[in-house]
Amino acid sequence: MKKRISLFLVALLMVAMALTGCGGAGQSNESAEPPASEGGGFAADATIGVALPWLGTQNWAEADEMFKTELEAAGFKAIVQHADNKVPQQQQQIESMIQNGAKVIVVGPVDGSQLGAVLEEAEAAGIYIIGYDRLIENTTGINGVVQFGSIKTGELQGQALLDGLAANKGKGPYNIELFGGGPADPNAPNFFKGAMSVLQPKIDDGTLVVVSGQTDFTQCATMDWDNSKAQARMDSLLSGFYADKEIHGVLSPNDGIARAIITASEQAGQKIPVVSGLDAENESVKWVWSGRQYSTVAKPTDVLVGKTMEIIKSLQAGNGMPTPDTTVNNGKKDVGVYELPPLVVTKENAKEAFANDPGRMELLQ
Ligand code: BGC
Repeated sequence: MKKRISLFLVALLMVAMALTGCGGAGQSNESAEPPASEGGGFAADATIGVALPWLGTQNWAEADEMFKTELEAAGFKAIVQHADNKVPQQQQQIESMIQNGAKVIVVGPVDGSQLGAVLEEAEAAGIYIIGYDRLIENTTGINGVVQFGSIKTGELQGQALLDGLAANKGKGPYNIELFGGGPADPNAPNFFKGAMSVLQPKIDDGTLVVVSGQTDFTQCATMDWDNSKAQARMDSLLSGFYADKEIHGVLSPNDGIARAIITASEQAGQKIPVVSGLDAENESVKWVWSGRQYSTVAKPTDVLVGKTMEIIKSLQAGNGMPTPDTTVNNGKKDVGVYELPPLVVTKENAKEAFANDPGRMELLQ
């Protein structure tokens, strides 16, 4: 009986606290969470914005489709846009998502550090902001980021390059070159850093020779992830440094750039070097299967979108941001990271890797 009375009192106290707006949990959360969380979620048919950077690689085109389909299937109104790799366009799109009353804005930034002002405006309006695939830097306007481990991705790329060289290019030392992604994308330096953590010791001990000497990210980066720029750099590396040498391997940050590197090598009359990749794009899955590209890294879009949808549904139900796997500092705050595991794919494990992906399985013949 006593227990019941005390339970009743506790319940009464909780109601009173809720009504007066005080209470430990609510208060301590106030600075970390936007006001939306205090209202306990939002309407089941609310507007959700998704701001993607561009549709230039298969992963973003898949995300564009999947977000439209899944947000609508879940009963939300979806505004899904891409910014053609242009910062001002993305800022305007996010601005108009705010004006349209979006409760959550999912952002794959064109430039990780150029959205501070507009996202802080969204934050002040009580909108939740989720970084998608890429971190958003130097802003308090971010509640979490969903991504495949970016350092881990680079480590897999570096290791694949080493494995491929050992398997296909004899004993070494091996002549290699290094490529990075778009410098405005916070993933690109991380991919490179992860890869270099594996490759640098082998450069130091003479197993790998970067013939051009270009080993800094800034020298190796590919502006805007533009395949044609990577191909032009590869052309000049080959004509400048490999006229009388074989190139054995190339670190590539994604599949589009990998195909550009391979094409340039073929055109220069080289044997195809061992080249890493990322995204498991259809075209590269075919090239891996036929032996033209050594490896890719799968980071399935449906898994990334699925995780993002899970977070949106938690916010809608008033349960706040789920507990993240880890945190990363974005220059202004510690951001919760929902981190998924990337998987390296070569011809050897392709059938297992894509066992649950009928579209890609079809390419393996
Ligand atoms: C993504 C990659 C993609 C690249 C270029 C990166 O942020 O993680 O999947 O290939 O952007 O679009």
